[in-house]
Amino acid sequence: MAVTINTLRDCKTRGEKFTCLTAYDATFAHLISQAGVEVMLVGDSLGMVLQGNDSTLPVTVQDMAYHTRAVARGNRGALVMADLPFMSYGTPDAAMDSSAQLMRAGAHMVKLEGSSWMADTVEMLSTRGVPVCAHLGLTPQFVNKFGGYKVQGKDDSAADQMVADARELVEAGADIILLECVPSALGQRITESVPAPVIGIGAGAATDGQVLVMHDMLGATPGKPPRFVKDFLAETGTIQGALEAFVDAVKKGTFPAQEHTFKA
Ligand code: KIV
Ligand code: NA
Repeated sequence: MAVTINTLRDCKTRGEKFTCLTAYDATFAHLISQAGVEVMLVGDSLGMVLQGNDSTLPVTVQDMAYHTRAVARGNRGALVMADLPFMSYGTPDAAMDSSAQLMRAGAHMVKLEGSSWMADTVEMLSTRGVPVCAHLGLTPQFVNKFGGYKVQGKDDSAADQMVADARELVEAGADIILLECVPSALGQRITESVPAPVIGIGAGAATDGQVLVMHDMLGATPGKPPRFVKDFLAETGTIQGALEAFVDAVKKGTFPAQEHTFKA
């Protein structure tokens, strides 16, 4: 049966973990969804992973729609979430137009970066039939404001603010919260503070779901991987084995381990 937002809510209610991986093409979308991964994210990370840029900023809505169409064709029952790229949702009108393009391309949901000031946009999309995932913490489209890719929410006031932002966004209609690179304790606090499912990457083991960039978890990314990454191909030897090992480890609670998480 196809995964919907209700499947993820049920997971949260039952305390079962779910999984998410990035997918950018039909072949891997097929493999990933067959492995039982609940959510496939057509991430704007494709700007770095596929296009070779040093940030996600150059990615366009056209790029995202192209890859979303490919992923939708290969999908076998996962929920397809697509990123709204940099500056494609600067106003609610722009957000609606960009989201329409991604939903027409086969997305079931869009993801956007930004805190409580995005609440109006989230409400507008949500009331018009576009489920929204709100991405908080290390939001890569803000790399030039952050001055680098850094763990977020480390001091008490930043942590309190992020909890308040998550609550406000869910009240505005966000169906999922995604947390990137925050201390584990904050990941847990936000997961317990909102009724919506929370997906984490570098946000500790307590979030309802875990996401990784596929190329990272296959050990294909050049250079030193970020702390939160585990190479599942190294221990399994096949792509299918790696995908299944990731699902298994998240469901059993063995990934992420302490070594993949951040302290305050
Ligand atoms: O674009 C992406 O791959 C993402 C994940 C890292 C969450 O947003
Ligand atoms: Na992204």
